[in-house]
Amino acid sequence: MRETSLSVDDLVYPLFVVEGEGVRNPVASMPGVFQLSVDLLAEEVLEVQALGIPAVLLFGVPDDKDKDAEGRAGYDSDGIVPRAIRSIKEATPDLLVWADVCLCEYTDHGHCGVVTEAGEVDGDASLPLLARAALVYAEAGADAVAPSDMMDGRVGAIRAALDDSGFGDVPIVSYAAKYASAFYGPFRDVANSAPAFGDRRGYQMDPANAREALREASLDIDEGADMIMVKPAGPYLDVIYQVRAATTLPVAAYQVSGEYAMLTAAFQNGWLDERGATMESLFAIRRAGADLVLSYFAAKVARWLHEG
Ligand code: PBG
Repeated sequence: MRETSLSVDDLVYPLFVVEGEGVRNPVASMPGVFQLSVDLLAEEVLEVQALGIPAVLLFGVPDDKDKDAEGRAGYDSDGIVPRAIRSIKEATPDLLVWADVCLCEYTDHGHCGVVTEAGEVDGDASLPLLARAALVYAEAGADAVAPSDMMDGRVGAIRAALDDSGFGDVPIVSYAAKYASAFYGPFRDVANSAPAFGDRRGYQMDPANAREALREASLDIDEGADMIMVKPAGPYLDVIYQVRAATTLPVAAYQVSGEYAMLTAAFQNGWLDERGATMESLFAIRRAGADLVLSYFAAKVARWLHEG
């Protein structure tokens, strides 16, 4: 009589890649999550593949010295992400690699686009840079690109850039309904991407809005998105539900760093049952209508699912 299922096939596992060799940096606010150098990432993905997880979502964490106002390291074909993609595809050709596309990890000001002299994020000026990043990742072998910057028009710009260069078959997983959320805090520790000034409310969504999510989704669909993402997941189950009803495209939901950190802190204190609460959190996201769930718990959950 069970109405909803959760299988390993539904999971996408986020990974963070840093410069260096033999680097495995723990992240204080996300116990169990590590920044990995390319060599160790290539070992990690063997395990991810053995667990049957179909896809990873890759984030690059460049050295501070490589950051600049335009986020050039984000669209350098020898940058950290293209190198990581090449080595993952060599180690595990069948594991799908989704490359996150955003500038915040690469800009010295930490915003997701370029900033004008007046200190405003300039969405239109950011589009060619985001499109270049997507193209560079596709050239490196990414199976999908996932723009998380939330600049208006970026799906269309990326689609055109990919199509013009022979990558018409690389899909766009669009973070369409991405909220300006306090739950991204731990991610910004891992990705070293907190904005140096201001916040992201000019381009990410107001947590009070749900109808706007449908508008964002329909704009992205018109521009050529192949999959729609809602993020965060747990605090926005109503949004997942409504987006699911409004589109026939696949819907993904991202259980973000703060959701992981909250649960993990409770587990470490013995306040919540780890397996029970983790599985319940993921079932809720699936029940709301997400086809896929991006989660830092993916590897652990895959092990539990295999245990039965
Ligand atoms: C980059 C990006 C963020 C996340 C994914 N891509 C952070 C942000 O927008 O500040 C958050 C993921 C998480 O919290 O797990 N723009």
